[in-house]
Amino acid sequence: MISIENYNQNRGIYSPLVEHNGCICGYWLTGNDYRGNGYYGGYPPNYLKRIKLLFPDVQNVLHIFAGMTKKGTWPYEVMMDSNPECKPDRVGDVTYLLPTKERYELIVADPPYEQNHEKYGTPRVNKRRIVKYCAGSLVTGGCLVWLDTRIPMWSKADGWSLRGTIGLNQSTQHLTRTITILERV
Ligand SMILES: C[S@@+](CC[C@H](N)C(=O)[O-])C[C@H]1O[C@@H](n2cnc3c(N)ncnc32)[C@H](O)[C@@H]1O
Repeated sequence: MISIENYNQNRGIYSPLVEHNGCICGYWLTGNDYRGNGYYGGYPPNYLKRIKLLFPDVQNVLHIFAGMTKKGTWPYEVMMDSNPECKPDRVGDVTYLLPTKERYELIVADPPYEQNHEKYGTPRVNKRRIVKYCAGSLVTGGCLVWLDTRIPMWSKADGWSLRGTIGLNQSTQHLTRTITILERV
């Protein structure tokens, strides 16, 4: 499902990715877009466009910690967030909404970083548990794309294999983040 070939052939001005020992790696400097979606912690500009280039043929996608993410990148998308003002498809703590009955080909996650959960008025997220539960919501070969300031704890015993790490920076004075790509094997 992941296609580094599609990304590199269609990336335009985005920096290339390489595959090393079965793991995709690279670095994205996205720049700022002050129009954004206006939501605290909104995605860096073009973030989902880049992820779409890596997963061009995926049909059904689950966004967790979706915030104000707009639909339209993939054919079928489900949004989960604890903030009802974002009007997600499923409102609540993802710890209790996962694993889902449905199986997805891709899960895209943008959890609060460091102390940022305080900005949303939510408790600190148990990321290790959520990563484990995500494995139960993916088809075999499906991927979890996790944007964070840390690589989350993951385990082979839960069915995960590491498929990629991409460094990401927006601009000066922004936190450096890592996109961790885990494949459900
Ligand atoms: C970094 S923001 C995501 C922003 C999103 N990428 C966007 O572009 O709008 C993190 C989101 O996680 C949500 N959140 C925090 N804790 C949560 C939890 N336990 N379960 C579900 N959502 C949670 C917050 O409400 C917030 O919308």
